[in-house]
Amino acid sequence: MKMTKYALAAVVAFSASSVAIADGHGNKKATDTSPAEDLAAYRAYFEKRHPDDGAGGKPDFSNGVYSILADARSQWENTEEFPPYEDMVAKGEEMWNTPFKNGKSYADCFGGDPAQRKNYPMWDDKRKMVVTMELAVNECREANGEKPLKYKKGDMTRLTAYMAYESRGQKVNVQIPNDDALAAYNNGKELYFGRRGQLNFSCASCHVQSSGTRVRGDTLSMGLGHGTGWPVYRQKWGDLGTLHRRLGGCMKQMRAKPFKAQGEELRNMEYFLTHMSNGMEFNGPSSRK
Ligand code: HEC
Repeated sequence: MKMTKYALAAVVAFSASSVAIADGHGNKKATDTSPAEDLAAYRAYFEKRHPDDGAGGKPDFSNGVYSILADARSQWENTEEFPPYEDMVAKGEEMWNTPFKNGKSYADCFGGDPAQRKNYPMWDDKRKMVVTMELAVNECREANGEKPLKYKKGDMTRLTAYMAYESRGQKVNVQIPNDDALAAYNNGKELYFGRRGQLNFSCASCHVQSSGTRVRGDTLSMGLGHGTGWPVYRQKWGDLGTLHRRLGGCMKQMRAKPFKAQGEELRNMEYFLTHMSNGMEFNGPSSRK
């Protein structure tokens, strides 16, 4: 591990103010605040912390750091005019339209409609688990005798980029219908706020307490809106990646062992963090540095 990684601990500034969510750590149980209370507290916290989009307006919080950095935003807007993921969306459309060996297709699994973003992540009460869009794609493939796709990059991101593209403008509306679902949400919340790894950081250390501050050439984005824009094309990757790929990368930055893509932990974390974007628009795929 390079020395620069250690320097993070010193650079990340902890502000005194904190978001009023019972996070399951310290002396409050995660169950002490409801999802609706969490959402309200989270929004209020970020609106107060970042009143300005860098150009005198109000941030939309839906485009990562570009929501608060005017210069970076104008560069990013130029990139989005000829998006680097355009051909990948086209590849995804081709996948959607190509039948499986048994003659069926994705359309048969998804009611004929690729614009599925608004339905995921979803609580499956029969199996008592969170189902993400990527998981649903692979379950569709396996039910039709096809091999599952890899969860972090490659064809999965092509197909989900197309599905996200077709879903642009849909509102995030993650439902937590009952106590079992709430337990999964609270687990995701505890994982989000729990400190881990050799640097003893939580997700919130960077994306709640330190959002807008700079760490090694990056400005830390706000947790609010983190669920809307996937998959993401990153210049650093030279490719599209899923949310779980990104979360694995962040866990490595925390010097923690990354949770497995589409394992229970990351599905629960996605459930929590996407819920925290409820009411915002899905706007994937998107591009990032
Ligand atoms: C040491 C600081 C740090 C920690 C801790 C951290 N991240 Fe990140 N994260 C970053 C940096 C730096 C980036 C890239 C700049 C940005 O968009 O914030 C990033 C990016 C992201 C993004 C992409 C945002 C976008 O708009 O593209 C998400 C989502 C994210 N992190 C979630 C998490 C989650 C969930 C955790 C906990 C598992 C976590 N991060 C822990 C530093 C951190």
